[in-house]
Amino acid sequence: MQLSIKNKPDPNKLLDWYDYNAREMPWRITPKKRLSGIRPNPYHVWLSEIMLQQTTVTSVKPYFKKFTTKWPTIFDLANAKDEEVMGAWAGLGYYARARNLLKCARLIAKEKSGQFPQAFEALIKLPGIGPYTASAISSIAYDIPETVVDGNVERVMSRIFNVHTELPKAKKELSFLAKQLTPKLRSGDYAQAIMDLGATVCKPKIPSCDVCPWMKHCVSRKAGTSRYLPRKVKKAKKPTRFGIAYFVERVDGAILTEIRQSNGLLGGMLSLPSSVWGDNYQDDPPITGDWKTKNNPITHTFTHFDLQLKVMHATAKLDETPKRGKFLALDEFDPNNLPTVMKKVWEAIKY
Ligand code: ADE
Repeated sequence: MQLSIKNKPDPNKLLDWYDYNAREMPWRITPKKRLSGIRPNPYHVWLSEIMLQQTTVTSVKPYFKKFTTKWPTIFDLANAKDEEVMGAWAGLGYYARARNLLKCARLIAKEKSGQFPQAFEALIKLPGIGPYTASAISSIAYDIPETVVDGNVERVMSRIFNVHTELPKAKKELSFLAKQLTPKLRSGDYAQAIMDLGATVCKPKIPSCDVCPWMKHCVSRKAGTSRYLPRKVKKAKKPTRFGIAYFVERVDGAILTEIRQSNGLLGGMLSLPSSVWGDNYQDDPPITGDWKTKNNPITHTFTHFDLQLKVMHATAKLDETPKRGKFLALDEFDPNNLPTVMKKVWEAIKY
């Protein structure tokens, strides 16, 4: 790409700012500790970066603590049972991440002696690792000067250079600009510094330009356009889908559950049986019984659609053989292992 960058901000100014303003995170080695030679644990960096894909730092913190307590090393995680890991991930969303997390852990444990590769090209071949995560692991865990480009970085670049091209078209240009600024030294701190700048100073709605270490170089600040950037193509309205969740309680208290198909939405997760989710309600109960409808449908928002889920319940006899699913005794069934949408169903039934 033929772009010449005039008036480039100084990466060292950002690093100086980070030295005093770095956010504390359970997976992070502070800049002071890094300078004294303490290295981050690549397992922690990988785990946190997978969790942080599409998820906020605040939501990730308790999950990171839970995972590293249950599975302190990549070998522990690799040896865990699928359902334990899927259950521990419940509530964090985007469940393909948990399936890929396990695949990746098992591959690293078995084929790489538990060692994460350092190079972007090797990291990107691993399950669940795309360009952003490969750059993040390479830079944060190993100080290799790869450029991380997430939503924060795109916002910072669009403002510093006053880029008015709409996203997603602007992605290439913003990545190019970000690459030009990435320093050869302290690349891991720099990657985290620019994310922190985006999250705490160059905020989406109203940026705090008066405390920005790059204030003098920010073209959009001078132009008065910062708060309108980055520009984005307007999203189409989400469609609504309709489905039915079936709550079946056997007379001994056991509950009918199913594991969602591994290749679909909420794949591999523990669930209450449900119909397919489509343009209308398509009744497909797992047992023939005296079905009653519960209150109002529950609603849940997924990335690409809103869901209205009607909740129906019925009681099953002791010798009931369901068309699909498996009865779990109450002491085998932990509602905390359900994805959020099914937890809502459970709560609608129980309370
Ligand atoms: N978002 C994704 N990765 C992050 C990191 N390492 N630090 C802060 N925010 C992040």
